[in-house]
Amino acid sequence: MNKADRIKKYSRQAAMYERNRKAHSLGQWRSRLVQSARGRVLEAAVGAGANFPFYPKEMVDEVVAVDFSPEMLRKAKEAAKEYGIPTTFMESDMDHLSFPPDSFDTIVSTLSLCSYEDPLTVLHQFNHWCRSGGNILLMEHGLSSNRLLAIAQQSLDPLILRIEGCHHNRDIMNIVDRSDLRLKTAEHYWAGCIHLIWAEPNKKDQTDPSTLSENPNIFQ
Ligand SMILES: C[S@@+](CC[C@H](N)C(=O)[O-])C[C@H]1O[C@@H](n2cnc3c(N)ncnc32)[C@H](O)[C@@H]1O
Repeated sequence: MNKADRIKKYSRQAAMYERNRKAHSLGQWRSRLVQSARGRVLEAAVGAGANFPFYPKEMVDEVVAVDFSPEMLRKAKEAAKEYGIPTTFMESDMDHLSFPPDSFDTIVSTLSLCSYEDPLTVLHQFNHWCRSGGNILLMEHGLSSNRLLAIAQQSLDPLILRIEGCHHNRDIMNIVDRSDLRLKTAEHYWAGCIHLIWAEPNKKDQTDPSTLSENPNIFQ
């Protein structure tokens, strides 16, 4: 599926993501995760702003919110206003975005590694963009640790990709383990399909993300 079709697919789902935000869907996990956000925050693939109700406003100076879907961004802008979060919005593709090194104190990504062309390269970029000692906070879904469920996820993945625009068969912990990030804590829920991850950048032995395109990773 090409990028324009994916953007349209997500834009068509924006109203549903807005309803989920209003219902505080997955709110307990979102709240625990983004409580650690501090300073200048990058929220990658912000969607309709489902994390905005949970940011610790007194600790956050600014959120830079990126998404490639204009409809999602429109909903996220309403959420930022409603919850009083100072936010700069960028309509951009996370697979081809760049920021100077150490641009952020915190990077938040929820339910997004399923969507990127190359999630490992995006995590390398997070490592590059987050300052040393900062927080990288992930809530991601992927391949279950339950064998039968994982088989079902593998076989249904092409269909789900066509319907939702994202993959349900990515091995999230394996991708995080292979990235530059230093894992602090991880929790796993729903038969190992959902992962809450607290990580920090590891600036030692850092790979320059721009060289990774010569060394492609295979992600469906
Ligand atoms: C499953 S939704 C999650 C939204 C939000 N993070 C949340 O937790 O509800 C995935 C979001 O990623 C965005 N997205 C997917 N691929 C992207 C890319 N390459 N660049 C920017 N945004 C992307 C979609 O538009 C959508 O808003």
